[in-house]
Amino acid sequence: MASRVCVGFLVLVSSILLLLLLLSVSVYADEGEHEHVLTLDHSNFSDTVTKHDFIVVEFYAPWCGHCKKLAPEYEKAALVLSRHDPPVILAKVDASDEPNRELAKKFEIQGFPTIKILRNGGKSAQEYNGPREADGIVAYLKKQAGPASAEIKSAEDVSSLIDETRIFVVGVFPKFSGEEFEKFKVLAEKLRSDYDFGHTSNAKLLPHGGSVNGPTIRLLKPFDELFIDFQDFDVDALEKFIVEASVPIVTVYDKDPSNHPFVNTFFNTPNAKAMLFLNFSEEHLDAFKSKYKDVATAYKGKGISFLLGDSEASQNVFQYFGLKEDQTPLIFIQKKSGQKYLKTNLKPGHIATWLKEYMDGSLKPFVRSEPIPDVNNEPVKVVVADSLQDVVFNSGKNVMLEFYAPWCGHCKKLAPTLDEVAVSFENDPDVIIAKLDATANDLPTEAFDVQGFPTIYFRSASGNLLKYDGGRTKEDIIEFIQNNRDKSTQPSPVESSPVKKDEL
Ligand SMILES: *[C@@H]1O[C@H](CO)[C@@H](O)[C@H](O)[C@H]1NC(C)=O
Ligand SMILES: *[C@@H]1O[C@H](CO)[C@@H](O)[C@H](O)[C@H]1NC(C)=O
Repeated sequence: MASRVCVGFLVLVSSILLLLLLLSVSVYADEGEHEHVLTLDHSNFSDTVTKHDFIVVEFYAPWCGHCKKLAPEYEKAALVLSRHDPPVILAKVDASDEPNRELAKKFEIQGFPTIKILRNGGKSAQEYNGPREADGIVAYLKKQAGPASAEIKSAEDVSSLIDETRIFVVGVFPKFSGEEFEKFKVLAEKLRSDYDFGHTSNAKLLPHGGSVNGPTIRLLKPFDELFIDFQDFDVDALEKFIVEASVPIVTVYDKDPSNHPFVNTFFNTPNAKAMLFLNFSEEHLDAFKSKYKDVATAYKGKGISFLLGDSEASQNVFQYFGLKEDQTPLIFIQKKSGQKYLKTNLKPGHIATWLKEYMDGSLKPFVRSEPIPDVNNEPVKVVVADSLQDVVFNSGKNVMLEFYAPWCGHCKKLAPTLDEVAVSFENDPDVIIAKLDATANDLPTEAFDVQGFPTIYFRSASGNLLKYDGGRTKEDIIEFIQNNRDKSTQPSPVESSPVKKDEL
């Protein structure tokens, strides 16, 4: 019964990325009455799309906030692109409308808004990964509507095509034919939504100069060695090369928007992620930078990626991981398994030894916890990560534990009921009703599967762990506890002095 649960609480890293995308949103006034974005629905979608070699479709929902923000930008872009030669058509489909659901399913729409670029009369669909403000949309789509790789014939082409703050992939070919060139074209078509491609027969025009022998792929990048040449023309090998070469040794996360695509890449890697945060305005930055880069270089290719973040620009990351400004400089590692490691008040000299301990497996994982409360005398006991073992696993009691989020409406609704349940067990020393704020404490995921709020578990005194999925009335919950509690510890009918539970 999903309606009883506040879902989607797991703030995925992608929401950080969304924030990044939104950093650069600017506002345009609406121009004129006429809509330039085509409205499509299930009745006319196919007919319209099959008529176009290239058409852009936004799948939206009328209630979605990000869609509303995008709408004026998308409209403005549609106006500009309608004057492009040939015109580029922007369309939209209300994917939340029941009759259009089939379309949304066909295009695997997972969230709103999702923009797809359809080519070849709709025969191929590609995700739109571009900006969300009008000028950015126009520039991105103009490029997407053209050939996947642009020919570079002159110095002017170099300066108009190659943006020094971005990654650019150039194929150098003696002639524009043959197997290598065809492979390059396939690759460019495949990766065109994520990278910019060009080709030339004159390597001398390119940044970092020009002696190459035979067909070569040169990847230009705004960091580290600035360019790399590659000559294996297997499409998969080429793709792997481009993806790997596009990750800086140390990704920098600051206020500069040209760094944000690399931050995006960083958070998408399957690697363990090391993140060093400090205040970039303070003078010891250089010492940290150089020590950190040394370490990152030493561990290159060892399954760990490195990010250096300005604490002033990364509030969303701090919030996400529950880190605090006053812990900086700090270094934090998150493994793919979710395990975390943290060192606060870091000095440049600590970096190498700490990383070595991490690599050796001798670091103790970091578990985020609220402080154990000094006073805990409400009927429903407060449990935090640091008291979870004592209260739930080692207390020898029958414990009902609610995982909640402070913002969750269903949890607020349940709270008075849970209070009543707890009051009814107040004189029973073997039953504990407890709650844990799962947004402020890390959970042992091997024990608890918490996908939404509230999630309720019951652990009997003898260690039987059950997820509670019953009704939400006082009677339902009490009955469940009575049925599942450990019988041997049930209190004898003649009860003397009840144990004070506020000592937990
Ligand atoms: C498609 O149909 C809808 C609903 O009838 C209409 O509002 C829209 O203008 C049509 N679009 C085109 C391109 O014909
Ligand atoms: C970063 O340092 C500058 C200069 O010392 C200071 O003004 C600023 O408040 C600091 N920011 C944070 C988030 O600590």
